[in-house]
Amino acid sequence: MLTTDLHYARAFLNPYLLGEVCLHDDVKYTTVVRLCNATSIVTVNDQFPGPTIRVQEGDRVIVTVRNHVDYNITIHWHGVNQRLSAWNDGPAYITQCPIQPNQSYTYNFTVEGQAGTVWWHAHITWLRATLHGAFIIEPNRHNLYPYQHILKGKIFKDEVVLLGDFWTQNVEEIYTTVVETGTISVANPYIYASAINGQPGPLYPCSEAGTYRLKVKRGKTYLLRIINVSLLDEFLFAIADHTMTVVEVDGAYTKPYSTSVVFLSPGQSMNVWVTADQPANRSYTILSASYIPNLLVATHRLNATGVFEYEGSSWTFNPPATSPTASSDSNTSRHHHQLQPLVTPSSFPAQNDSNFVDMFISQIKGIGADRKGSKSSNRMPLPLEIDRNLFFVLSINALPCPSCTGGNIPGFRNAAAINNISFVLPTSTAILPAYYYSNKQNYADKDLQQHVYTTDFPDFPPLVYNYTGMPKNPLQYADANEGTKVSVLEYGSRVQIVLQSSSTLAGPETHPIHLHGQSFYVVATGLGNFDEASNVQMNLVDPPLRNTVVVPSGGWTVIRFVANNPGVWFLHCHIELHITWGMEMVFIVKDGKGPQQTLPPPPADYPKC
Ligand code: C2O
Ligand code: CU
Repeated sequence: MLTTDLHYARAFLNPYLLGEVCLHDDVKYTTVVRLCNATSIVTVNDQFPGPTIRVQEGDRVIVTVRNHVDYNITIHWHGVNQRLSAWNDGPAYITQCPIQPNQSYTYNFTVEGQAGTVWWHAHITWLRATLHGAFIIEPNRHNLYPYQHILKGKIFKDEVVLLGDFWTQNVEEIYTTVVETGTISVANPYIYASAINGQPGPLYPCSEAGTYRLKVKRGKTYLLRIINVSLLDEFLFAIADHTMTVVEVDGAYTKPYSTSVVFLSPGQSMNVWVTADQPANRSYTILSASYIPNLLVATHRLNATGVFEYEGSSWTFNPPATSPTASSDSNTSRHHHQLQPLVTPSSFPAQNDSNFVDMFISQIKGIGADRKGSKSSNRMPLPLEIDRNLFFVLSINALPCPSCTGGNIPGFRNAAAINNISFVLPTSTAILPAYYYSNKQNYADKDLQQHVYTTDFPDFPPLVYNYTGMPKNPLQYADANEGTKVSVLEYGSRVQIVLQSSSTLAGPETHPIHLHGQSFYVVATGLGNFDEASNVQMNLVDPPLRNTVVVPSGGWTVIRFVANNPGVWFLHCHIELHITWGMEMVFIVKDGKGPQQTLPPPPADYPKC
């Protein structure tokens, strides 16, 4: 039987709130009907999208993952800082060997120093397509929401909104093809559909009945916890005629920012408030549209749509074929319940509107960095001085592959790299145990002790060129070296990374770069090539704290963090195609002094490869 089940329990460390314990048994491999067909998918507890986990800051979270499917599994807690618990972070072959079929592993970590909306997902091959869900950290009473005074208890309901996709083909097969040939076939327009909470909506065939509906009452305010869980697509999201106020990104509070459209890249999450303040006799379209800045790499994607449904409204997906009064006499139609078509957004950015996206991103300002010592906000130190200056060039590459025909260039397979290193995952063990045991002379378990990486990941690109200029020919600057290279950081070092996009092979693209183990401040961003000499203005006042930052198409972003969480931390593009191609690297953060700065040993049931 193919099932995955995930049991989670809340421990009772916090005396103010009784924990909930949720146990799910007998979970089966799940068949869901989408896009006119029944499809078999891997789920947690039979749910697609997966269950929401809700904890409180300070809780110990204990999740036993029992793998009953034929595939290896790991679960990553995206955005959870995993302070001193790197063993539980989840990326396969980075912090752990996978949980093999019929095996289990108990993730066990404490959620400290952070509150907000993050998420969980499988972190192996492309299984996160169906293995994902929200992970909500409620603030404890010492870290209350900073906008209580604005809200005055106004939030009527909070709602998880997952912007994702539904794949009609087995994602494991797609993954295997991508590894072998560097490409996926997008000839079938419905190899995947965009979806909101797993539902594509009425623009897709056979999808109208299941359409996602958010039922609202006029005058009430809702907190939407929006997460982009898509494998490939960045989304522009709107609710027709309604204004959203962004108050949190990636599980960190922001200054309130009101807008009619928000943008989220894969991996990012965002809390917004929206008040149902429009005429209640109508209902309104919820729209999630793919953002594709580089139309060269475009795949045609229909919008996912849902309904913002006012209580008491009578609505229909289909506009009336003829004028409603034309065929009926006005006397009877007044007493008839008139079905109103959904209200659609009056203005919405174009599919490639990078000006809108760049503007939106620059409007997100953090709080906390400027509130030293405050308990009620983001408690990550913002480095004002830098010990390690890093410059990472993100590139799409071509590696020789005589039999490959489907990539951008025949005879080459598509790849991707950071500083020209196209990352190769180890297979015989994971990097964390290899590092942890590397200096334990008498350790008997040679499996865990193997040395599988080198520590020479370059601080700077090997070649300086006009990164954002168009290459003369497709292969110019497009070669890369494969390797399993890590960068070692001293405990407590203050790190700055310039993330520079490039136009190799296919022209400029955006890359949502995600760091495990801790969030970082986004202190600057711009278009073109980053130029140190030009006196870049760093925002050291109210930079947003994020775990996934969008490096703009044809531009750069500067991030800063203090490396004070010892362990092995993955940094990668959150677009699944790019991570599969090798756009990733690993930091080892060394231990500091004493138990509060030292990674403890692995748990007893830690999986082996
Ligand atoms: Cu959301 Cu390394 O992942
Ligand atoms: Cu990318």
